[in-house]
Amino acid sequence: TLTPTRAILTDAVVAGRAVGAFNVLHLETAEALVRAAESTGLPVILQISENAIRYHGGFEPIARATLAVAEASSAAVAVHLDHAEDAELALLAIDYGFGSVMYDGAKLDFADNVETTRRVVAHAATTGVLVEAELGEIGGKDGAHAPGVRTDPAEAAQFVAETGVDALAVAVGSSHAMTERVAALDLELIARLRSAVPVPLVLHGSSGVPDETIVAGIRAGLVKINVSTHLNAQFTGAIRRFLDEHPTVVDSRKYLAAGRDAIEAEAARLLRLFAGKDPN
Ligand code: G3H
Ligand code: ZN
Repeated sequence: TLTPTRAILTDAVVAGRAVGAFNVLHLETAEALVRAAESTGLPVILQISENAIRYHGGFEPIARATLAVAEASSAAVAVHLDHAEDAELALLAIDYGFGSVMYDGAKLDFADNVETTRRVVAHAATTGVLVEAELGEIGGKDGAHAPGVRTDPAEAAQFVAETGVDALAVAVGSSHAMTERVAALDLELIARLRSAVPVPLVLHGSSGVPDETIVAGIRAGLVKINVSTHLNAQFTGAIRRFLDEHPTVVDSRKYLAAGRDAIEAEAARLLRLFAGKDPN
């Protein structure tokens, strides 16, 4: 069932758990992720990035396919626009039936980020669509998730108050696209941000963070856990193994299914871990 992101995150906050937000690169990912939600009985957030839209040559085909997969599922599934640096794209997704959008103005200076984020929040205001934003280092060109960058709690509180955003991506030690799970999180900073900011905190670049560290981060206050690279690695690894074992295969569904099964299994494990359950 297509479910509002707001409802999923509110329930998670009340229950003291976190929710997996996983990137949809193509149809097989969306299918694997809803199967994981169905088998675990847990909600999931499917997110489509501006990069994925570029890959598919436009917004509508991948957006419609992902919404259709969510609607057809028996699990609670939200559809989210991830890392839109183009505010117009965020407005389009709000009007299109997404449950949430992330406007990413982290590369802008504070005042410009506030101004553009406010525009997106104003557009979402009457719809119930949740808006996530990101607060970067002032003037920093690599955004808030470059290694070493940290979100300042006082600045985060000011940003949330001035923009009215519903969720905030924070820089607390992770960085995007890590292929090894070796990142440390600043748990004390997460706890301070949770006290300073009245909205759910989002961890980006979670692929590089080990299981136990993510669990500690959730205890400290993280609510939405974004994972992409790690699941992509599971997909590609399974396909590589399948093709090695079946060198004469030509039907692409055979190896794509192997990749899809691998994402399903690992996404189910992560959903349980983030929900505070035994992952295995
Ligand atoms: O917005 C998407 C996430 O932050 C994914 O990051 O690919 O490093 O897991 P990741
Ligand atoms: Zn991200």
